Parts: sequence; structure tokens; C-alpha cells
Amino acid sequence: MNAIEAPEAHEHAQQLGEEQSIWFKLSPLLKGNISNPLSILVQMAERYGGVVPVNLGSERVVLISEPEHFKHVLVSKADNYIKYFDGLKPIFGKAMITHDGALWQKIRMPQQPAFHPDAFADYIPFFVAAIKTKMEQWGDYAKNGQSFEMVEQTWTLAADMICKALFDRDMPFNPHVVFKYVKTYTDVQEHKGIRQKKQSGEQFEITEADAAKAVEAWHSVPPAVMAAPPRDHREKTLLKLIEACVADPSIPEFDQQQAVDEIKQYLWAGTETTALTLAWALYLLSQHPEASARVIAESEAVLGDREPTAADYTSLVYTRSVIQETMRLYPPVWGLIRVADAADKIGNVDIRVGDRIVLFGYSAHHNPRFWDEPEAFRPERWMDKSAKRQVKYSYIPFGAGKRSCIGGAMSQVENTLALALLLRRFRPEYVGQVPAPLNATVTLTPKGGLMFRMHEL
Ligand code: HEM
Repeated sequence: MNAIEAPEAHEHAQQLGEEQSIWFKLSPLLKGNISNPLSILVQMAERYGGVVPVNLGSERVVLISEPEHFKHVLVSKADNYIKYFDGLKPIFGKAMITHDGALWQKIRMPQQPAFHPDAFADYIPFFVAAIKTKMEQWGDYAKNGQSFEMVEQTWTLAADMICKALFDRDMPFNPHVVFKYVKTYTDVQEHKGIRQKKQSGEQFEITEADAAKAVEAWHSVPPAVMAAPPRDHREKTLLKLIEACVADPSIPEFDQQQAVDEIKQYLWAGTETTALTLAWALYLLSQHPEASARVIAESEAVLGDREPTAADYTSLVYTRSVIQETMRLYPPVWGLIRVADAADKIGNVDIRVGDRIVLFGYSAHHNPRFWDEPEAFRPERWMDKSAKRQVKYSYIPFGAGKRSCIGGAMSQVENTLALALLLRRFRPEYVGQVPAPLNATVTLTPKGGLMFRMHEL
């Protein structure tokens, strides 16, 4: 198949300055539909097949949307396809998420025990503590009737859960400030240069200087976490595992900078994604009162007035299904990126060394060949084992194969408990545009945020 020439690619590259990020390079293809920029990629996948090569300036991007090809790239031939993070280096540094091969394995293996399901029971009281802090704030919002942006709320909650459960720290930084800085940075990555942006209802200008300030603020977070006093002096935490790696002479690569960058990685990869899932779930539930009522009923039946335990998480079946269905409709990581490190063939397309591969999970999640009524919000589909679903690799919110998300299972515990506890006390009312318009940056975010008003039940 001949590569498709992307219209306007050169024009946009000139307009917005040179840029390393693949998400920036894809931007000419994301302009077709204002409320859902991904729809044009979905149409391309439908029209041209599961493997679509596109020439973007000097680079070739291959858009992949078939589960069998996801398996090929992520599992069967995973070593031929390496990570690509140029545009995100200042966010992740040299954290394991950016590495490949033996070095990646050396860094991931010793941290793995912190994400084993056996560890979750220990984390639950800390997740609950963070949720209770959020509830206090929402109680105030309910009292004074103010509207607020939800992703910022869930981001600060997710950051608090990670600090408390994995690092044994109360958040030693202002999460609202860090959130704003990180957003500033990722938005500048997407559209380099100065542009007008609306945030929290205010018009403000993002400049290169803001971006530099944002990176500086971001880099100050891990040292603050490390220097903060332990909250409960727990022996088994992720931070303790990371510190042990730095002290271990058999892993010389795991130096102090590696520790700093691992913390950055957890606070971004583990916070942004978890927060978006919870915010989108609250948006979907606000549009489906019957589903919301079912979450409340389940929470009351399983928890009553008690605080949750690990056994309760297993019983919150419907609430967990809401989270799974949310990640199908709004996968926070809508596309995984790899670079071909060896010549290969996918479908009938020859892959060249250096090709950028975009594994377009969003497309498979919305494909009627794999899902009945793919656009419908139907949490029940996750409870009905006989339903038409789960062609293998048709659902990849956490990626697949050896590089799949280390914290995926834990994030589902965090978000299931958060939904159960928050909806037991509050009715979050979505007051923004319906359907909420999307912004496809590194993650799938709501364009302009998700505005809510809070009510106590
Ligand atoms: C809804 C929540 C989450 C989603 C949707 C999500 C999604 C993903 C995806 C798709 C990947 C694979 C990226 C690739 O193959 O290129 C990934 C990797 C990763 N995630 Fe998550 N994630 C979530 C929560 C978390 C949490 C809670 C943590 C930790 C606290 C975490 C830490 C990581 C790390 C460290 C990696 C890199 C793993 C490696 O390179 O070996 N994530 N995540």
C-alpha cells in the first residue's frame, strides 16, 4: 500500500515551530472534527484498513488499529519495536517507562512487588484517607454552590493516593500548582510557541518561559517527596524499594537520578491516567442517572457506613465495571507509540526501520466488530461473560505484553473505591457541554476541562 500524504503537514510544522513530539506531528490529522479529533483517525482506519502508513514530513507514521497487529507489535515481536519518548523527556527523565531491553528489566523488576495484588490490602486505608480529604473539599463546594473543574480534582486525589500509599508521605507539594504546571508543559509540547488557552475560565498566554518554569517546578517535586517526613513509618513501600535499589551495588544504573525520575514517572503516569478515568467516569455517570443509582445502591449494600476493605473491592462488581467501561470509551492512553527497530511486515505493509508506529487502541475500543453498540455506555457488558466482547487485544487501556502498565490493577482499586465512597455522599452535577469535547494530546483529555457543581445527598 502506498503511504498517504498528510495534507498541510509542512504548513503546520512551520507555523508551530519544530517539535519532537509524535503527538504534535499527528496534529494535522486531528483537525477534522472539533468535538472529537480522533474520529478522523477512526475513519482512516475504517477506510484504508488496519495498517495505514502516513507520510508526515520526513517521517513515516504507521497507524495500526487491529487487535492481531497490537499483539504482533506488543507481544510476539515486542523486541523489534522500541519505546519513543523524545517529546516527553523533561517529564519522565530516564525513568523505566522510557527504556528498552535489559536496562528496562533491571529497573522494573525490583519495583514490581509494590504492584502485586497482595500489596493492595495494605494500601486501601491510605486510598481511603486521600478520598476523605477530597470529600471535605467537596463538602465545602456543595455548601457554597461553586462550580469547579473535575480533572484537577481527580488529579489532586490521585496524586494524594500515590503519595500516601506508595511513598508513605502526605503530599509535600501543592498538587493544584503542580497540576497547572504539568498541564502548561504538556500543552506547550503539543503546540509549541505562544498561544491563547482557556483554563479555569481565564484567558492566559502560554510562553516558552512558562514551560521552563513548569519543568523546573516539576523537577522539584521528587526531592520534596524524598525529604518529607514519613507518614506512618511503614517498612513495605515503593519508595523503600526505590531507595534499596539506589543502595544496591549490583544495580549501578539505579543511581540517585534514577530514583528521582522513577518518582516523576509515578506521579505523572500513575496520576494523570487514573485521574482522567475517574473524571470521565463521573461525567458518564452524570449522563446516566440509572447507572449512578446502581453504583450508590451497590456501595450501600456492600459497605453500608463502613470503610472499605480489600474484600469489599472484590464485591463492588458493578462499580468496577463502570471504571472498565469508562476506559473503553475514553482510554486515557488513546494511542501507544513505538519505533520500528528492525524491518518487518504488518498485514500487507512493509515496515521500515525508524517508522513510528501508533497503536490506536481507541479505534479498537469503538469498533462494532468487537463491541455491541460500541458508543453506548453499558457497564453491564463487563459483567455478562457470554456477551459479545473481548476479542483478545481489542481492549488495551493498559497496553499489552511485557511493557503493559505496572499500576493498572492498582488504579482500578483506587478508582472503584473512590466512586463508591464519593457517590455514597455526593451527587456531582456536570454543568458543561454535552457531549464533552475531546482533546487528543498525549492523553485523552476533555477540551477545556469538565465543569461540575456538587450536591450533598
Ligand atoms: C487508569 C489508569 C492507568 C492507565 C490507563 C495507564 C495506562 C498505561 C499504559 C497504556 C501503559 C503502557 C505504555 C506503553 O506501552 O507504551 C502504562 C505504563 C506504565 N504505567 Fe500506567 N496507567 C494507569 C495507571 C498507572 C498507575 C496507577 C501507575 C503507578 C502508580 C502507573 C505506572 C505506569 C508505569 C511505571 C508504566 C511503564 C511500565 C514499563 O515501562 O514497564 N500507571 N500505563
